[in-house]
Amino acid sequence: MIVSEESIAENDAEREEAPIRNQPRAGVRDAMVEAIAARYEVKAERGRRFAEMTSLRVGGQVDWTLSPTTEEQAARVVHRLDEAHILWRVLGAGSNVLADDAAHHYVVINMRDLKGVAEFAGERVSISAGYSLPRLCVEAVKRGLSGIEGLGGIPGTIGGALWMNAGAYGNEIGTVVESVRIARGGAVVSVPGTEIGWYYRKASFAAGDLILGATLVLKNDDPETIAERMNKAKQQRLTTQPHGRGSAGCFFKNPPGGLSTGRMIDELGLKGTRRGGALVSPVHANFIVTDGKEATATDTLALAEEIRRRVQSERGVELEYEVELWKGDVKVEGRKVKGEVEDGTDESGGES
Ligand code: EPU
Repeated sequence: MIVSEESIAENDAEREEAPIRNQPRAGVRDAMVEAIAARYEVKAERGRRFAEMTSLRVGGQVDWTLSPTTEEQAARVVHRLDEAHILWRVLGAGSNVLADDAAHHYVVINMRDLKGVAEFAGERVSISAGYSLPRLCVEAVKRGLSGIEGLGGIPGTIGGALWMNAGAYGNEIGTVVESVRIARGGAVVSVPGTEIGWYYRKASFAAGDLILGATLVLKNDDPETIAERMNKAKQQRLTTQPHGRGSAGCFFKNPPGGLSTGRMIDELGLKGTRRGGALVSPVHANFIVTDGKEATATDTLALAEEIRRRVQSERGVELEYEVELWKGDVKVEGRKVKGEVEDGTDESGGES
């Protein structure tokens, strides 16, 4: 089916009168996504699997993946998707996401191609959301700029790091943010860092905010001292955390009050516990690692839930997920996905 931009507009006009704004039916939606991608010249792919897009290496197929290469293009594309009531979610390097094995009926905005270049000016650096966090740490250290060296070696993109206020070894990205560029109404809007709430592994962005880039303010310091601090953090990570296998970093947050989730899970003797291809890391108990092609999201989630039950019953602590759980069945996820409708229904029913 060919759907022109004009017919999308007509469709919009019809929908304005409708009280419930559902996603268009699957076939119509496909044609709309194709039309939007063509109009803004964005790479569009069908049927990519989360197993190849996330670091846990599990998860099902998603209807569409759109990969913008500039901040302006990304802002326009998501605005158009919003106008067409098509659900979308943002994926950076996929290093903090557990997507389930079901079919995911929405659009993934893949930010990995939106790298740009890091523009350094004095103590400031402006970067786009898809820029690699480890690379930025290295570039900053090279220039004698301090403030993010503790994050050196954390996998992921700048967008993902900002979204969850990534932190390690005394550094948190939120503390060095001067401004964040966000997509609003099809345009790139700059929001001061002080207007954003930065919390432990969480920031106050709204569910549908698309982070496009940021300006960070770092501090001049002795390059050798900074490099030493970064190498120490990297070394510590390498010796205390697993690497080289499928993983999404720490699976659960540390509870308030100074308890360590990793230590609790370890003390329960759960290191090495396996469900299919998912395993509690023998190196750090707050990591679930996956191995081989047999690993599934279902096994990974079942193992995570088993850990939660044990920690709840034996330590009386309710663990909160640090990784994001993405369900294919967006109907049950309320408003988590941008564009989700008031009553959470989708007229297309079963979809094909
Ligand atoms: N511990 C154990 N057994 C384990 C793991 C840890 O006994 O299996 C003990 C350690 O020996 C240590 C304590 O628990 O005494 C805390 O462990 P660690 O220093 O590894 O820190 P963490 O609290 O588990 C946090 C972050 C990490 C971050 C490190 C370093 C969370 C949930 N985790 O780990 O972040 O890299 O500190 O700053 O906040 C992530 O966000 O994905 C992540 C890995």
